[in-house]
Amino acid sequence: MRFHTIIEPFRIKSVESVKFTHREEREAALREAGFNVFRLHAEDVLIDLLTDSGTGAMSAAQWGALMQGDESYAGSRSYYRFRDVVRDLTGFAHVIPTHQGRAAERILFHTVLRPGQVVPNNNHFDTTRANVEVEEAEARDLVIPEGRVPSLVHPFKGNVDLAALEHTLAEDGDRVPLVMVTVTNNTGGGQPVSLANLRGVRALCDRYRKPLFLDACRFAENAYLVKTREEGQGDRPPKDIAREMFSLADGCTMSAKKDGLANIGGFLALNDDDWTERCRNLLILTEGFPTYGGLAGYDLEAVARGLEEVVEEPYLRYRIRSIEYLAERLEAGGVPILRPAGGHAVYLDARALLPHVPPLEYPGIALLNALYLEAGIRGVEIGTVMFGLHPDGSEAPAAMDLVRLAVPRRVYTQSHVDYVAEAVLAVAATAPSLRGYRIARAPKVLRHFTAAFEPIG
Ligand SMILES: Cc1ncc(COP(=O)(O)O)c(C=O)c1O
Repeated sequence: MRFHTIIEPFRIKSVESVKFTHREEREAALREAGFNVFRLHAEDVLIDLLTDSGTGAMSAAQWGALMQGDESYAGSRSYYRFRDVVRDLTGFAHVIPTHQGRAAERILFHTVLRPGQVVPNNNHFDTTRANVEVEEAEARDLVIPEGRVPSLVHPFKGNVDLAALEHTLAEDGDRVPLVMVTVTNNTGGGQPVSLANLRGVRALCDRYRKPLFLDACRFAENAYLVKTREEGQGDRPPKDIAREMFSLADGCTMSAKKDGLANIGGFLALNDDDWTERCRNLLILTEGFPTYGGLAGYDLEAVARGLEEVVEEPYLRYRIRSIEYLAERLEAGGVPILRPAGGHAVYLDARALLPHVPPLEYPGIALLNALYLEAGIRGVEIGTVMFGLHPDGSEAPAAMDLVRLAVPRRVYTQSHVDYVAEAVLAVAATAPSLRGYRIARAPKVLRHFTAAFEPIG
């Protein structure tokens, strides 16, 4: 007999209570937070979908592995275990641990970028973009046109526009030190990149002699979406597909807080000996000795074990299905969302839902704050607040105004997801009454984290 219900592939051994609040309490908390959900106290949030980063539940095996951590400053056994797992998965020769993904980005970009250079990517994530721009280089987004239209269904909306990449390499090739591809494409909606597209990027990189790096935070979700969506891939284990993805690249940056199934950690892995030596020198300056890179020995153990668990097929089947399930319920209720569902999140199209709120009055913030006030749910704006401020100080609407509901790994059950669906549908029904916001104060970079807002009208 075969059953169709896809269940959580785990049972729960330890639980954490969530706090229920009244609407007046949430109003006070949000006002206190400058109408920026990043500034809320997390315990005032009922269902926290701010991010899938570092918020997952570790397995019993990972907690057990913590006790195996070797805290030696240099040459720790935990490092070698970590290195071997990363090598086995990625095939890259050198493995440099970092405390999280952005540290890997900073070390790589500070080492290889010079002012005026260009880094092509499908879409840079916010920290990736900031780490390119702080080196006075250009972060150039070259996702396929379909990837910019939220309502359009395409199986691989994270794909790189190969013609646009070729144009960049032909016109500006002397200014391109490396090409990046983000799997899955978080900024574009957690959308996967096909193996065929990665092979196309590789071929262009070979022709123009450029190294290719993956931003590999969600490599396992990408591999599973390749398995289910790309012709000829259905019979392959996800780990096999992941290995092929890495084999097409020369290196990767990785936040282990996503598909490392850990609460902290990351790495830079690469083949080039010279770049590695220079990166390690910088690592020692800012992160720590090359065998711990800002992590405890026990963190290295947790990540090593997480990287093994994340490619297990029952886990990935449940993971991808739980996101699709939320997306299906919202779509059935007429809520405009980015289609198809991403690998780690559902993205509400705030610009489409709130056409009366202009992008520079931040429809994403309006929707986000309404969700918190009505239901205690926290998401994140991925739109004009996050991407609208340019290095020259000017502001323009971002390509899309989305509210991302990112689902932590192995944390919430189906009834939590049902509650979220019910709440989003209820808030969507009140959309015409929602008003925009203006920024009261904000820093010059990565303003979305700490800006304070004021409601308009
Ligand atoms: C695609 C992508 N790249 C890089 C990062 C940065 O990783 P970290 O938060 O570990 O610094 C993130 C984090 O959300 C991400 O989604």
